[in-house]
Amino acid sequence: MTTLRGLILSGGSGTRLRPLTYTSAKQLVPVANKPVLFYGIEAMVAAGIEDITIIISPQTGDEIRAVAGDGSRWGIRLRYVVQEQPAGLAHAVLTAEESLGSSPFAMYLGDNLLRDGIEGFATRFREAGAEALILLQHVPNPSSYGVAELEDGRVVRLTEKPAEPKSDLALVGVYMFRPSIFDACRAIQPSPRGELEITDAIQWLIDSGKVIEPHVVTGWWKDTGQWADMMEANRLVLDAIERDINGEVHESDVEGRVVLEAGARIERCRIRGPVVIGAGAVVRDAYVGPYTAIGPNCHVDHCEIENSILLEGAIIADLETRLEGSLIGRNVRVRRSQSKPKAYRLLVGDNSEIKIP
Ligand code: DAU
Repeated sequence: MTTLRGLILSGGSGTRLRPLTYTSAKQLVPVANKPVLFYGIEAMVAAGIEDITIIISPQTGDEIRAVAGDGSRWGIRLRYVVQEQPAGLAHAVLTAEESLGSSPFAMYLGDNLLRDGIEGFATRFREAGAEALILLQHVPNPSSYGVAELEDGRVVRLTEKPAEPKSDLALVGVYMFRPSIFDACRAIQPSPRGELEITDAIQWLIDSGKVIEPHVVTGWWKDTGQWADMMEANRLVLDAIERDINGEVHESDVEGRVVLEAGARIERCRIRGPVVIGAGAVVRDAYVGPYTAIGPNCHVDHCEIENSILLEGAIIADLETRLEGSLIGRNVRVRRSQSKPKAYRLLVGDNSEIKIP
């Protein structure tokens, strides 16, 4: 069987997920209590890939290295390569050239999530002779993505974020390449947004007469680059969890698909799944409703939460109104104050958003 290596792009600046990305890499924001990046690594491991290069930025690379480690927890090898500037996906590919060597490889954008993984596509690519394989999905807003035009089932044109898209087929952030992609990335010029686009590199392969195999993905796919997408990814992943109660439950109703990790504790609560509650979290006198992910070591006390993501160490206490559709960063505290005068007292970072009823 042909050996496939892996390339995951986790550089970039994550400006659209601020304020979370002021202090953390966007690929480490958790979906159902697991960093987005891990879904990509695990999809590659499931496809039999054992050697993965991760592109990191100078700003967030150390954190990504610390969280993902050397790959031994998945029984694989992880290598890291720093991309000094977020100069585009094709630039990231060139940065990884030495690390990838002459193997064919699967490339996965570190902020993408695919319900059905990449195993079937990896097998297909190993067996077929195509120069590259791309994944596509019909979307309602193609101008936010790379867009493909097909003729008789063949890819004839790819355009990055076109103002007037010629089709509704978006490029999903997973690609399979052979070493010819390096020449393609070297041959192209920066796009109007100043980046070396992988979309243009694949177009260069097409123009050189190479066969690019398209596959339309039918299971859900999410690019979690913006916070609304992140919330939706959380709902989609939670929709597939199984009930698994390992923590302590005292005088509480726990309905449906709830994951309570070992070391978490709930007291006098009503929990209605799908919900995940991380290790070390304490939830008291609370209602936790569907599509909520409570991170490790959070404290939730005397309040109601639904359809929300709480990152590690957040504290939510004594709220009169239900917290809904919220994304709460690490160690954030939201609680009722007893001090007079009765007023909102906020200490909120740049680009945060607060909506009050
Ligand atoms: O999500 C699918 C889309 O991803 C495709 O439809 C587009 O054709 C493709 O260009 C890409 O578009 P985005 O604008 O969403 O890419 P973004 O800048 O968000 O980068 C994707 C990932 O790659 C992200 O995890 C950061 C990383 N990255 C990005 C750049 C620009 C790098 O590692 N280095 C870079 O230089």
